[in-house]
Parts: sequence; C-alpha cells; structure tokens
Amino acid sequence: MTQSSEPDLNTALAARYSDAPDTGMSEEPLLQSMAARGSCRAFEATPVPDDLLQTLCAIALASPTKSDLQQRDIVVLKSSEARAQLAKLVSGQAWVAQAPVLLVFCGNNRRQRLLHAWHDVPFANDHLDAVINATADAAIALGAFVTAAEALGLGCCPISAVRNDAQAVSDLLGLPDHVFPFAGLALGYPSKTPEIAKRLPLNVTCHVDRYHEDDYLRATVQAYDADRVDEQPYENQRFVDVFGEADPYGWSDDKVRQYSQPERADFGAYIRKRGFCLD
Ligand SMILES: Cc1cc2nc3c(=O)[nH]c(=O)nc-3n(C[C@H](O)[C@H](O)[C@H](O)COP(=O)(O)O)c2cc1C
Repeated sequence: MTQSSEPDLNTALAARYSDAPDTGMSEEPLLQSMAARGSCRAFEATPVPDDLLQTLCAIALASPTKSDLQQRDIVVLKSSEARAQLAKLVSGQAWVAQAPVLLVFCGNNRRQRLLHAWHDVPFANDHLDAVINATADAAIALGAFVTAAEALGLGCCPISAVRNDAQAVSDLLGLPDHVFPFAGLALGYPSKTPEIAKRLPLNVTCHVDRYHEDDYLRATVQAYDADRVDEQPYENQRFVDVFGEADPYGWSDDKVRQYSQPERADFGAYIRKRGFCLD
C-alpha cells in the first residue's frame, strides 16, 4: 500500500467530519496520513524489520512526557510464542493472533519510586495523579507510535483488551509492581486499506473559550447517527439477545449497548494490588 493511493488532506477531512475545515493546504504528507488514517486489523505476513521497529519505539518515546518523568515503557513481542500467549489473553479478537508484531504500552511509576529509594527521599505522591500521569505518558507514546508507523505505510490497532485480564498480562510480561499495561498495539503491513471512520462534528468536540453543549448536541448526535447508518453502517449489532435488532442502528445505539454491560470493572482492584493508592 502506498501513501499516494490515499485521499488528499481536504478529501480525507471531508470524509471524516460533516463540518470539515478547508485547510488551505495541499502538500502536507504527515497531516494527510493522519487525516486519512484508520485502525488496521488485517495484515500481510511480511515481517516488520527490527531496525524499523526500533526506530518507531525511539520516535514514540521522544513524545512529550509529564515533567520529564518518562513514566511509560514499551514491551515488544516479537517471538511467535509470546504473541500467541498475549493473543490468547485478548479474548474475542481473533485477528490479534495474525499481527506480525504486538507491543504493549505500559504506564511505569516504578522507576520514579526507585529514584526515591535510591535518594532516600519519601515519594509523597501516592495518589490518583500517579496513575493518571503514567497512563497519559503511555497513551501519548502510543499515539506517537501510531502516527509514525502509519506515515510509513504500516497499519496499527490499539488493544485495550490487554486490560481484560491485566494480572495475567502482567504475569506474561513480567511487569513488577507500579508498572501496568495501558494498551496493546498490533502492527504490520496492512492487507487492505483501513477505512476513514467518521467522527462527531467538530462543533460538538472542539470548543472555543468555554465548553458548550447548548441546545444542538442531541440533534447533532442524531444527525451523526444518521450519517453513520447511511455511510458506515455497523456490520453487527451488540447484545441483540437483550435489545433485539434495531433499525436504524447508529453510533449512539452501539455505544449505549456497549456500556450497558460492565467492562473491566475489576481494573481498580488490579491497580491497587499493583501497589497504587487511588485516593
Ligand atoms: C486506547 C485504545 C484502545 C483500543 N482497543 C481496541 C481493542 O481492544 N480492539 C479493537 O478492535 N480496537 C481497539 N481500538 C481501536 C478503536 O476501536 C478505533 O480507534 C475506533 O473504533 C476508531 O476507529 P479508527 O481508529 O479506525 O478511526 C482501541 C483504540 C484505542 C485508542
């Protein structure tokens, strides 16, 4: 897949947003790649060269990090055995096992605590912020990795399902206390061009000066639902046994059904067990 097969910047943004801006730009290859991107869950068997993998990790870890604390690490699973074991822990997502490379982006508050032990200075920030800072660092590094990989023609898909059984994933990867999996990432050369997923209009997600919902949020979501039904209908509906088949079935129907069931409700208990105090 070559980048030249992708739509230009303005076309990609118009496919994404009903109120896309006219950028006034044409030749901006990185922005074009970011605008036209989509998650990739189908890969060619072609391996990702080691030096490219290392380069992408270096780029990802060059991203901003809270107070220069550098509280994020990447575990790269290259061996087929390690990947198969991780894929087994990501229940219900068979495509994960086919990815040529799997990575796990972790929050790491352990190093900071070790610094305190080595300097014999108490760590005075054992509260929720410690988890948020490490999570944000891991998420930012993942985002940078994805952007860089996609700009080079690779395909990626983050995998929050590594938190389905966070303890088993921690055991598999040998994560010590205060290091936790934030998300996996499947990586490889795409076997088909990922779709440009429509997003909510910018007038409800991008605010000027103050947060606004006003009276248009609900109507905008309804219009977005209708767009999704027309242009990107869901292949499957969730929990049909509970809710039946809906027609139409839009984005808000899907998201409400998704979170009508508890998901990873035990993650707080896992995080506490790994040594964090969330209060
Ligand atoms: C933190 C994070 C975790 C995700 N976890 C999963 C996952 O477990 N399985 C999956 O198929 N997609 C996962 N995704 C991909 C999203 O479903 C995808 O980004 C979203 O549907 C929008 O589609 P797009 O990336 O193609 O624009 C995840 C994305 C993020 C940012």
